[in-house]
Amino acid sequence: MKSYASSAEIRSYLKAVTCHYEIDRYISLRSAVTRTVWSETESKWTVSVQNQGDFDCEILVNACGILNNVQYPRVKDLDLFQGPLLHTAAWDDNVDLSGKRVAIIGAGASAIQTLPAIAETVERCDVYIRTPSWISPPFGTDKPGNFTYTEEEKQRFRDDPDFSLSTRKAMETSFNNLYSASVKGSEEQVALRNALEKSMKALIRDPELHDKLIPKFEVGCRRVNPGERYLTALQLPNVHPVFEPIDSVTPEGVVCGGQLREVDAIITATGFDTSFRPRFPIIGRNGRDLRDLWRDDPVGYFGLAVSGFPNYLVFLGPNTPISNGSLMGTLEATVEYFIRLFKKFMHEKAVSFDIREEVQADFDAHTQDTMKQMVWTGPCRSWFKSEDGKVRALWPGSSLHYREVLESNRWEDFKWGYRGNRFAHWGLGRATVEFESEKTRDLAYYFEKHKPLPLEAYYLAAIGNDARVAIGDSFRKSGEGGEEGKVVLEDDDEDTLVNTPEVVGI
Ligand SMILES: Cc1cc2nc3c(=O)[nH]c(=O)nc-3n(C[C@H](O)[C@H](O)[C@H](O)COP(=O)(O)OP(=O)(O)OC[C@H]3O[C@@H](n4cnc5c(N)ncnc54)[C@H](O)[C@@H]3O)c2cc1C
Ligand SMILES: NC(=O)c1ccc[n+]([C@@H]2O[C@H](COP(=O)([O-])OP(=O)(O)OC[C@H]3O[C@@H](n4cnc5c(N)ncnc54)[C@H](OP(=O)(O)O)[C@@H]3O)[C@@H](O)[C@H]2O)c1
Repeated sequence: MKSYASSAEIRSYLKAVTCHYEIDRYISLRSAVTRTVWSETESKWTVSVQNQGDFDCEILVNACGILNNVQYPRVKDLDLFQGPLLHTAAWDDNVDLSGKRVAIIGAGASAIQTLPAIAETVERCDVYIRTPSWISPPFGTDKPGNFTYTEEEKQRFRDDPDFSLSTRKAMETSFNNLYSASVKGSEEQVALRNALEKSMKALIRDPELHDKLIPKFEVGCRRVNPGERYLTALQLPNVHPVFEPIDSVTPEGVVCGGQLREVDAIITATGFDTSFRPRFPIIGRNGRDLRDLWRDDPVGYFGLAVSGFPNYLVFLGPNTPISNGSLMGTLEATVEYFIRLFKKFMHEKAVSFDIREEVQADFDAHTQDTMKQMVWTGPCRSWFKSEDGKVRALWPGSSLHYREVLESNRWEDFKWGYRGNRFAHWGLGRATVEFESEKTRDLAYYFEKHKPLPLEAYYLAAIGNDARVAIGDSFRKSGEGGEEGKVVLEDDDEDTLVNTPEVVGI
């Protein structure tokens, strides 16, 4: 078990989760959705699945993800290359890279993870770096690199839930602490930049490489990567960082600066189509296709709904906290919000919900305004931004802020549709508790344990509560030109409060 779990480990865990909770029986694998259409008259979605037909549902949740539609680089004649052409997210385990000459195109999170994994086994590796990334020490731990947990540590995680929780909390806290540094020019941004510059310089031996590998833009403008092993690997004798743009690809290799560098395999670490445009038609109200609506400018509500697309929910739509911290916590918060929404929908026997247009417009305007102050609108190229410079991938706040906003439900942001009277589901007006088992239900659940009032309260009530003032308080007797003075203790009472008829009416 490594500190950064491998894809195989994550996959095996997720498979075990689906089996343990018996949700595997609800999952239909190899079922590509090809089209979804909203019916206004029936208030339902029809989902077409390749080779399987059409299925209806009241609520459609799109969980197609944003980082899985692989994008190859726009490089001339890439398709002419005769050797294996891999993408980091379309990997072929049958390709053996050991002892081979390899090219990696890209310098984002995927390239940064790939290079150290292959550098020592390949004969030669050329790494094409168009824009460098900020590299940080590992997040959430003091230990270096991708360390392996000892048997003792693993046993302690199993046996000691407090230890397990505090370890996980420490990691999450370190992510959640980073948000302040995302504000342009903030103290935290300056401190982080200085710290990373120092740690990167310490790891890069050749001062000429400092200029090429240490970014000029703000930390976080594009994703910060915990990848010190990448910097070390880049300096191995068989690894060659290349900073010139690629001219073209030939059957034998990559042409750069007019020179052919022959390779046996090319790994493209060039990311994903992150345009938010759905890959299949999503036809909402008035026959509107979301692919057309989001062709140039994907605007939604909190990254989870779109006005004009009733009963449609989406994970990781535009402006979710996809890189404002760990995504897992965000996804869980979104799931919990969806479940609360489903419960309301079912309980109230609603038939539709649709985000109000003006709410979505306000969210968008506020988001883009806030983004001006954030490092994400800095001078870097990143998939967080659209071509017009609008930050579309991120939430205008921290992950914790997103969670807090969702926890407040904001059901007023939706237009709710009902078949008839919105209160019809009240029936004869019984509360849920009244339907619970007579043995266990509590029909006076809103009563709390008695908290007796102090005797002083009765005394105050007897003499008039307004009379309560503290010794030393200034007062003026009521009426014009009323006498001014200070409250003093007039008898032997040691209490700090005096309640005398003289001060009534101040
Ligand atoms: C290399 C890599 C590493 C990452 N590491 C982290 C990390 O450490 N921490 C973190 O928080 N996040 C990480 N992320 C972000 C990651 O994408 C999310 O955390 C997570 O995978 C999102 O889950 P998801 O279910 O929303 O989307 P996905 O995991 O992308 O799943 C979407 C699913 O929808 C399916 N699908 C797509 N289109 C259709 C269709 N038409 N019909 C039917 N099915 C379809 C896809 O096949 C896929 O199975 C990483 C991303 C990448 C690429
Ligand atoms: N462990 C993790 O948490 C993890 C790991 C991997 C990915 N991810 C997620 O996935 C996202 C995508 O990461 P990614 O690294 O796959 O993609 P990415 O961040 O979009 O990076 C793509 C890289 O390819 C380069 N590139 C594209 N076309 C090129 C060309 N023609 N010539 C040279 N370089 C070219 C880009 O350079 P330019 O910058 O110059 O355009 C960039 O360096 C991350 O931001 C993260 O959210 C997470």
